[in-house]
Amino acid sequence: MNHFRSVFFVPGDSDKKLAKARQIPADVMIYDLEDSVLPDRRPLARELVTAELTATRGEARVRAVRINALDTTELSTGDALQDLAAVVRAAPDLIMLPKVRSVNDIVRLSTYLDVLEVREDLAAGNIKILAVVTETPQIMFAHGGLQQAGERLVAMTWGAEDLSTALGASTNKGTDGNWGFTYQMARSQCLMAAKACGVQAIDTLYADFRSEAGLVEACTEARRDGFTGKIAIHPNQVEAINTAFTPSAEEVEFAQQVVATFEANPGAGVVQLDGKMLDIPHLKQAHQVLQQAAQYR
Ligand code: COA
Ligand code: MG
Repeated sequence: MNHFRSVFFVPGDSDKKLAKARQIPADVMIYDLEDSVLPDRRPLARELVTAELTATRGEARVRAVRINALDTTELSTGDALQDLAAVVRAAPDLIMLPKVRSVNDIVRLSTYLDVLEVREDLAAGNIKILAVVTETPQIMFAHGGLQQAGERLVAMTWGAEDLSTALGASTNKGTDGNWGFTYQMARSQCLMAAKACGVQAIDTLYADFRSEAGLVEACTEARRDGFTGKIAIHPNQVEAINTAFTPSAEEVEFAQQVVATFEANPGAGVVQLDGKMLDIPHLKQAHQVLQQAAQYR
């Protein structure tokens, strides 16, 4: 699947926002059936989201649905199966699974999708999974197991709100306004789990949607750390996110120089460019930049 820069949330029960979302240039549209929709509006949201998926079928961008958490005694809303049974009919490209507790949740979702794809006569394995891997205390001890999640898992993201609720914390921010230690740790674990699994690492949302400067700073930091995209919750955020996660002309030029320098020195594992040492990790990084840039040419 392509590189996801902007992953944009649209509450699934708002026909107005669903219509508006069509004009928004996000790489991934997440039609939400979970926390932005009140339980008694979920039947309506399932209908609206299924209709939107049907209307946008065949479009280049990724059409995704955030379903409710899988059934457990404590997280249960009993809605996840109803969500899936409704929306798979309209061939979503991706399912976002919140409140994951261990790899078992992802394997379970994959198995449900195996059956539903057969029912709907869809190609086997086409519906991918984006997992939210920091919303329960359980998953914080179980990231290593995610490497057994299977082929459907293509991306991971993290969130601080449900984790702080689960922990009984009164806030997830420190006195300096940044994420508290526990949530910074969750963010780093998501990043490393994604890399360990070879899937995309998507940074959490930036809530203050009127502050473009703050968003740009958060994107820059996320990209520097290794995240390859970010969640958006407001239309104003999407273009800034796309720009921040697209390799700049200077980055592409530098990557080309790195590749050319290695090519000019066949057999060398270490070379120099303008007086700076480059070895194999720099070459791999340069290839990653060029691969991402190729997508937006
Ligand atoms: N999807 C589609 N359209 C959206 C949108 C979204 N996520 N967020 C805002 N809009 C629309 C508004 O409807 C409004 O449309 P209009 O100009 O035609 O009236 C326009 O963009 C400007 O919105 P604004 O007035 O600045 O904000 P708001 O008060 O309408 O909405 C939020 C603010 C936070 C409620 C809204 O951005 C939102 O619903 N975000 C998604 C939240 C979500 O899904 N959370 C769950 C995942 S964390
Ligand atoms: Mg939530």
